Amino acid sequence: MDQRRPLIAGNWKMYKTCGEAVETAQALKQLVSDVTAVDVMIAPAFTALSQVAEVTSDSNIQLGAQNLFWQEEGAYTGEVSPSMIVSAGCQQVIIGHSERRQYFNETDQTVNQRIAAAIKHDLVPVFCVGETEAERESNITFSVLDKQITTGLQDIALEDLATLVIAYEPVWAIGTGKTATSEQAQEVHQFIRSQLKEAYGADFSEAVRILYGGSVKPANIAELMAMEDVDGALVGGASLDAETFSQIVRYEI
Ligand code: PGA
Repeated sequence: MDQRRPLIAGNWKMYKTCGEAVETAQALKQLVSDVTAVDVMIAPAFTALSQVAEVTSDSNIQLGAQNLFWQEEGAYTGEVSPSMIVSAGCQQVIIGHSERRQYFNETDQTVNQRIAAAIKHDLVPVFCVGETEAERESNITFSVLDKQITTGLQDIALEDLATLVIAYEPVWAIGTGKTATSEQAQEVHQFIRSQLKEAYGADFSEAVRILYGGSVKPANIAELMAMEDVDGALVGGASLDAETFSQIVRYEI
């Protein structure tokens, strides 16, 4: 993974008011100001994005949204467009998180539309995939991931995928304290990379960053990052506290 720059991303989910988000971002900015070898991203709630952007704009922290809707504008009450999140200061966007799939009926097809819209607006898509516990137990992990990735990236041209980030998040490991072992993560990451090689060629598959997500903590990040095909992490619970998240970002130091 030498040529792939690590990305440690924090997904704040539905936590933190605007004031709390700004406070955490300010603390994090200090704690990671000297980090140069790792990309750092945080994804606060929509409501806090522009205020957090004021904190992060002159820092090494990138800003991400947790979702977007693919239409440019229109009568879509409650939705947020790509231009809106760009204008709020975002460079990245998390797409297809398993909680969106589970609670808000997102499908591989709507994930595909969201990824295409993100790319059109020069947002880095952090595209989440992962199997449920039942799917893992039925030994269909690889076919589930294959379908999620193939449909999620359908009809998107290779040249538009240059910034794509994939986040492998086994659903059974999210918020449960059950981390995949580093070997389990590596096995799946290697599979994803091999599928991408078949679909898009070696140059792309060697360059694309694949993050692991699911109960990542300061205590397990180094072991995960030591795996050849693990290029970073998407961190939920442990990203809410600036000090804890900074320890994950600084896994090497
Ligand atoms: P977790 O969440 O770190 O709290 O398990 C990860 C995620 O949902 O991205």
